[in-house]
Amino acid sequence: MNVQERARIRCHWLPEPDRASGPLYKALVDQLARDIASGVLGPGERLPPQRLLADALQVTVGTITRAYREAERRGLVEARIGSGTRVRERQSRAPDFHHLSHASGDSIDLSLSTPIANPLRSQQLATLMTRLATQTETLDAALAYQPEQGNRAQRETLSAWLGARGLPMPADELLLTEGGQHADYLTLQTLVRPGEAVASDALTYPGMIAAARQLGLKHLPVPMDTEGMRPDALERLCQQQRIRLLYLMPEHNNPTGARMSQARREAIVAIARRHDLLLLEDGVQYVLPEQRGQPFYRLAPERSLYIFSVSKILAGGLRFGALRAPANLIPQLSAGLRAQCWATNSLPGAVACEWLASGMADTIIDWHWQEVRARQQLLHDCLAGYDVQSHPCGFHAWLHLPEPWRAVDFVARAAERGVTLIGPEPFCVGSQPAPQAVRICITPPPDRALLQTALERLTDLLAEAPPVKAMPI
Ligand SMILES: Cc1ncc(COP(=O)(O)O)c(C=O)c1O
Repeated sequence: MNVQERARIRCHWLPEPDRASGPLYKALVDQLARDIASGVLGPGERLPPQRLLADALQVTVGTITRAYREAERRGLVEARIGSGTRVRERQSRAPDFHHLSHASGDSIDLSLSTPIANPLRSQQLATLMTRLATQTETLDAALAYQPEQGNRAQRETLSAWLGARGLPMPADELLLTEGGQHADYLTLQTLVRPGEAVASDALTYPGMIAAARQLGLKHLPVPMDTEGMRPDALERLCQQQRIRLLYLMPEHNNPTGARMSQARREAIVAIARRHDLLLLEDGVQYVLPEQRGQPFYRLAPERSLYIFSVSKILAGGLRFGALRAPANLIPQLSAGLRAQCWATNSLPGAVACEWLASGMADTIIDWHWQEVRARQQLLHDCLAGYDVQSHPCGFHAWLHLPEPWRAVDFVARAAERGVTLIGPEPFCVGSQPAPQAVRICITPPPDRALLQTALERLTDLLAEAPPVKAMPI
């Protein structure tokens, strides 16, 4: 038995890299990424020693060293002195965030970003369903298997509705999804390979953090200022790492409420073009046209995706949304959607589109924005003098706690006073240190009086001294 045969027997991972496609070390890393994604190599599993793999593949040790280094740079493996190179452990800890209220008893919930309850919604839904029940053609169409992009008539309705509200996007560029989170996940799953890197504001929507983590992507935080992500920091990061996709919430970042100026958007587009990044703009936190800046998909249509959902304007339970993508990415995204579920359920789409097209939705949306504005005013009146940031259309505000309050203590004390809040941890990307701040959602209380009671409890608490901690020696 020669050296190669002996090495091949001892190697528990024997890649067969495509030697014809570019540098061999890169082909090895691509094979490694595929094997990790398909489960051939599990988290924590050790890669063969470099000399052994080199003998098995009849290549130089230098090629293997280069491949392992590149795999480490892409976040696929970790090299530890004394224990070799191992597949990176998946961070499987479920992020601590909720889409359902976990406020207990009669605690006032200020933790969730949900639309304000309005009895008009269920009344309108009843009217819509009665109307739909007589539309045999629409129902028949909804009962058929749909194209991957979703029901054509629904895409056209949505395209017309969005176009009339300053978001023109042809039906051909839309894929219907089960809400915004699905669009986020579909994009990452389809356009970013395991081990590749995505970046976002250092504080971002927890659903994005969860999706990236679930898919084994490297998620890099970009430092922020009052306008959200800083272009100088993004440029530096792009020079150090290959980033495939940048996730953006330019209208109002969830949780901080930061809004990007036009100049900031243009600076980010320039970086995206220079480093060939895809841009994923999350427009789920819908903003009225007069409050909105230029969306990224209008600034850089060739590389931008845009997410819309009815969750924040009508109802999260409908699970209806859409993803706008450049024409060249539609086949890939359609294939991804087909692999998941053929196409999304078209009955919720029939309801949502009838709601939007009939004009009934506008009554709710108008009422909703007036109520959100009034609640934002109430919040700023109550918290006057504190460092609080929010958008006039925002469902939430971001309160930087005064010294010496720490977020964890504030959230715990607020709970004792009957107010459920959410601290900064679920919004932090990677191991970013969490700021001493809390997110206050103004929409869950059914009326303004209850919101005021909750805010008064918080201002009372802010005026008090935080608990004294036991002193470790
Ligand atoms: C920024 C952002 N994106 C996406 C979502 C998820 O939207 P959906 O409920 O439509 O899945 C949310 C929900 O809170 C959100 O705040």
